Amino acid sequence: MNAPWDAGRVAFTIDRSQSTPITAQITTTLRCAILDGRLRPGMRLPSWLDLAAQLGVARGTVKAAYEALADELLVFSAGAAGTRVAERGPSRPVEVKPVDIPRPLQDLERGFSLRPLPFQMGVPAQDAFPAKIWARLRTRACRANAMAPHGISDPRGEPALRAQIAANLAITRGICCHPDQIILTSGYKNGLCLTLLALGVQGRRAWVEDPGYPVTRSALEIAGLTPVPVAVDMKGLRVDHGVRAAPDAAVAIVTPGQQAPTGVTLSPERRGALLAWATREDAWVVEDDYLSELQLGGRAAPALAADDPAGRVIHIGTFSKTISPTLGLGFVVAPLALAARFGQVAGYLNPAPNVTTQLALADFLGDGHFLRHLRHMKELYRQRRDDLHARIDPAIAVDSFAGLTVIAHLPKGSDDVALARRAPELGIAPCPLSVWHARPSEAQPGLVLCVTNLRKPALDKACDALAALVKEPGAAAVRAQVAA
Ligand SMILES: Cc1ncc(COP(=O)(O)O)c(C=O)c1O
Repeated sequence: MNAPWDAGRVAFTIDRSQSTPITAQITTTLRCAILDGRLRPGMRLPSWLDLAAQLGVARGTVKAAYEALADELLVFSAGAAGTRVAERGPSRPVEVKPVDIPRPLQDLERGFSLRPLPFQMGVPAQDAFPAKIWARLRTRACRANAMAPHGISDPRGEPALRAQIAANLAITRGICCHPDQIILTSGYKNGLCLTLLALGVQGRRAWVEDPGYPVTRSALEIAGLTPVPVAVDMKGLRVDHGVRAAPDAAVAIVTPGQQAPTGVTLSPERRGALLAWATREDAWVVEDDYLSELQLGGRAAPALAADDPAGRVIHIGTFSKTISPTLGLGFVVAPLALAARFGQVAGYLNPAPNVTTQLALADFLGDGHFLRHLRHMKELYRQRRDDLHARIDPAIAVDSFAGLTVIAHLPKGSDDVALARRAPELGIAPCPLSVWHARPSEAQPGLVLCVTNLRKPALDKACDALAALVKEPGAAAVRAQVAA
């Protein structure tokens, strides 16, 4: 314990031209010597005064360096016996071996935090985001939050935001609910997770739309449910098929407002049949309202949860499409009878995300920016959709417009996944249609083209790139290449 200081073990180089403060330079030198064993446990460091004189720095500079090392539990003060190297400092950092850990959503997203390309799904118009307003509201919310008492936040989300969402849902989606039925989440996926936990349906079967959002299918499998694909036609989900295939399913997950990816609205008869099945079988309907009232064809159909007297619908909303996925905010509306249960699950397992973003969003809604922004986005997307319609190569067979997207059909045998993988080389990012099908190999191939980021100056280039990609005679050869 009493090993003396051996100046020869530690070579200090103080470089005043560096931007690194001198205190940090001293700390780094000593930390390295302690971690690599040149300074052993128990060894006494020179006094502040001695080391300061040796290095030609102020005494306070050395003191601050020793305090930083003490904060890291590498040294301790032994009173009159000076500062010593701690007996059991943290072990040496483990060398991290280079390994290839596959990133999540590899088959669905070309990467994260990348600038969106024309036709890319899931991202709103980059040029129309109300950045200045949002920055101002965020700043104000950060300041208010920093000054407020730091108590425990409501795990269901900030009451001010839940009240705003409840008021907004009544106007835009026809849902009449109490703010305590609303639980804030980080988006659709988080809302689905909260819902599955609250319903306690692990191990059961779940209807999913076919074609339908691939994320939902995989999410259910990860959560321990068995997805049962149910066909979709021009009136939406074939409820009769679902009843035949899995009458005892615990839950049906649907996009009734604008089916993803076809864009069809669930017909009134099918709505009735779905709710009747859920009531009869004591099952639940999860409404994925990802586009909210971003309906380009006119006024959006009311939400399924707007007319649910039996309380079988769990409504999941998100601000990803209506504002931006970078907000990381969405919400769940629980039926009245389940509101306490959802609140409990939020409280113990799934608390609402970041308070300051919630407060900023409450102001965004409360000050009228949200409805104004939605109106603006509808006009913009309608224009972009019409521009695409007018400009797209007539040789490409496209469906009528669906939601914020257009579906381009490809000749049988072409590999839409391989084409979509190649597309970013041409500066576009369409999504393969087959991955939306439960059995991709049996599906008609196609490309889903989102219009949100189709700015006029880039339209010609994007359409030319798409035509080149689709007409590529080697489309089938690409499949062979990728398969090999
Ligand atoms: C059908 C569907 N549901 C939900 C979402 C939104 O999910 P999140 O809120 O996790 O961004 C998307 C996004 O692309 C979608 O296509």
